[in-house]
Amino acid sequence: MHATPMISIEGQMNEAERTLLIEAILGSAVKPKVVLEVGTWLGGGSTLHILRALEKNGEGHLWGIEVNHSIYERMLKNIHAAAPEASRRFTPLFGFSQDIIPQWLMQQGPDIKVDFVFLDGGNNPGEQITEFHLLDPFIPVGGQLMAHDARMRKGKWLVPYLSLLDNWEVCLHETSIEGIFHARKISPKPSPASLKAASAKLLWMRLHPVEIAAAVLPAPVCGFILGLLPRTMAQRFSDGRK
Ligand SMILES: C[S@@+](CC[C@H](N)C(=O)[O-])C[C@H]1O[C@@H](n2cnc3c(N)ncnc32)[C@H](O)[C@@H]1O
Repeated sequence: MHATPMISIEGQMNEAERTLLIEAILGSAVKPKVVLEVGTWLGGGSTLHILRALEKNGEGHLWGIEVNHSIYERMLKNIHAAAPEASRRFTPLFGFSQDIIPQWLMQQGPDIKVDFVFLDGGNNPGEQITEFHLLDPFIPVGGQLMAHDARMRKGKWLVPYLSLLDNWEVCLHETSIEGIFHARKISPKPSPASLKAASAKLLWMRLHPVEIAAAVLPAPVCGFILGLLPRTMAQRFSDGRK
């Protein structure tokens, strides 16, 4: 029998972040059976490392959502080349997370439990909130959620929102400029007071003038305005860099 050569494929996240992701899967009290990822990109970052961790656990399946068609095609080839054994644990899903997640949940049936979620899709903070709200009812106690770019625009709403929900234990790892967020569900529902506080915080963040402008103005107009601002300020608004 020949060992599969370690093929390196393009992926994001630094070594420390990849290690945190792998350890979360390997160290889980109950081995994750159902794993859902948003934003595979070329496959060499989160996707490959989740698959290798599942393979090591000897259990679990990953569904990975990607919206960019050419990236999706390249990711498929990459995963089959770099992780031929683990690729049997992988089902790619092409499309927008907001469309794919409801369809996927319906296909899995009402008893589906999503043990592990990794969110790393679009740069709009509302997307992670939508993804969370779609998936949360199906995440069991003990289930985990990780999100990349937690210190950037992408995670600007999810991190404070989830941190206020008292049925999640959370940790923001600052192992990179981007940051990785790790949350574990500790009880089925938040208390009414914590849900109220989290919802009020989310509403407050949504009503920020920059967010309202981003929601109502066409993208070229936003780009034009950002172009007029000093570079550091434009970067702060566009990707939330602190
Ligand atoms: C930052 S990259 C992901 C990096 C990847 N997780 C890694 O570790 O290498 C974000 C990816 O999410 C995809 N994407 C953006 N918005 C999405 C959405 N709503 N649904 C699915 N994929 C999305 C982009 O096309 C891009 O490939």
